[in-house]
Amino acid sequence: MKIALLAGDGIGPEIMAEARRVLDALSLPGLVLFEGDVGGAAYKRHGHPLPEETLEMARASDAVLFGAVGDPACDNLERHLRPEQAVLGLRSALGLFANLRPATMFAGLEDMSALRPEIAREIDVLIVRELNGDVYFGEKGMRTTPDGVREGYDIMSYNEDEVRRIAHVAFRAAQGRKKRLCSVDKANVLETSQLWRDVVVETAAEYPDVTLSHMYVDNAAMQMVRNPGQFDVMVTGNLFGDILSDQASMCVGSIGLLASAALGERQTEFGTFGMYEPIHGSAPDIAGQGTANPSAMILSLAMLLRHSLGREDDAAVIEAAVAKTLDDGILGADLGGSAGTRAIGDAVLGRLK
Ligand code: NAD
Ligand code: IPM
Ligand code: MN
Repeated sequence: MKIALLAGDGIGPEIMAEARRVLDALSLPGLVLFEGDVGGAAYKRHGHPLPEETLEMARASDAVLFGAVGDPACDNLERHLRPEQAVLGLRSALGLFANLRPATMFAGLEDMSALRPEIAREIDVLIVRELNGDVYFGEKGMRTTPDGVREGYDIMSYNEDEVRRIAHVAFRAAQGRKKRLCSVDKANVLETSQLWRDVVVETAAEYPDVTLSHMYVDNAAMQMVRNPGQFDVMVTGNLFGDILSDQASMCVGSIGLLASAALGERQTEFGTFGMYEPIHGSAPDIAGQGTANPSAMILSLAMLLRHSLGREDDAAVIEAAVAKTLDDGILGADLGGSAGTRAIGDAVLGRLK
C-alpha cells in the first residue's frame, strides 16, 4: 500500500504531521509512504507548484493525502504558477471528478455551530461536488476591448457525460444513505444548469428507490442555514459545491472539521484511487502558530483508508477517536477552546482503539 503525502503550504505541514502520527500509530503492514513538494513550497524549490516528480509520485501511489496549498507571497504570480494550480492540476490529471464532502454534526458540538443548536443537531449531509469541470476548467482570460475596457472571463460549461458520471456517483451515494438526493443548480438562468438538470432527471430513471429534488443554488444556500436537516445527499457543480461546502462547515461548527475525498474511476489493488484533503485552505493567518485544528486532516486520512485502502475498520477507529476528542471538550481556538494542533493530535492518538 503506497500513500503519497503532499503537505503543501501554511498550516498544511502542521496538520499533516498529526495525520502522519495517527497513520504511524496504526502500524499498517506493508505500508510505504512518499513525501512530495506541492504548492508554493514546490514553486520555491522547483519553480513549479506541481513538479512532474510530484505528479508521478501521486500516479504511482494507491492514494494521495493532501494538506493545503496557498501562499499570499504567490498571489501575484502568473496564474499557472500559483500554488492553487497544484490542487487543480492533480484533480484534473488524475481524473478525480467526484468530490465527497460530508458534513455531520458531532456530539457535544451543537453549541459551537453558527446555527441554533436545535437546528445544527440535524445536519448530516453529503455534498457531492463535481471536480473536473465548470468555470474552473473552461476557457479563461483577460482582454481589453477596442475602447480600452479591461475584461476577465471564465467560460462555464458541462457536457452531458460529465454530468451523468457525477449524477451516478450521487445516486449511488444516496442509495447507501437516506435515499434522498437534492441536485443544486441555477437552471432558471444558466444553460449549463439546464443541461445539468435534464441529465440528472434522465439518470434518475435508473434509481427509482432514490427521491430526487432540485433546488436553485441561492435557495440552497439559504436552506442550508434555515434547515440543514432536510438534506441527505446534495449534488452540484464545481463552483457551487466549493461555496456550499464551506458554508456547511460552519453549520457543523468549524471549517477545521470537514474532510473530503476526490475519486475517479481508477481502481487499485485495495479500492478506488483517490486524493484526500481537508476542505479548508492553508490558513496563512494562523500558519506557524500551532493552533490549526488537525481534525479535518485526520478525518481525511480516515476517508483514504476507507475508499482507497479498503480498511473500513481503521477508518472507523479514527473517526470515533476524533468524535470522542470533540465530545470530551478538547477543542481548538476555531471551536472556542484552547487546545493546539499537537494537543488535539495527542488527544486523538490517545483515543484510538
Ligand atoms: P482558508 O480555508 O485557508 O481559511 C479561512 C479561515 O478559516 C481562516 O481564518 C483560517 O484561519 C480558518 N481555518 C482554515 N482551516 C483551519 C483549521 N484547520 N483550523 C482552524 N482554522 C482554520 O481559506 P482562505 O483564507 O480563503 O485561503 C487561504 C489560502 O488557501 C488561499 O491561498 C487559498 O487559495 C488556499 N486554499 C487552498 C485550498 C486547498 O489547498 N485545497 C482550499 C481552500 C483555500
Ligand atoms: C477547495 C479550494 C480549491 C477549490 C481552490 C484552492 C482551488 O477552495 O478545495 O475547496 O476551489 O476547489
Ligand atoms: Mn474551497
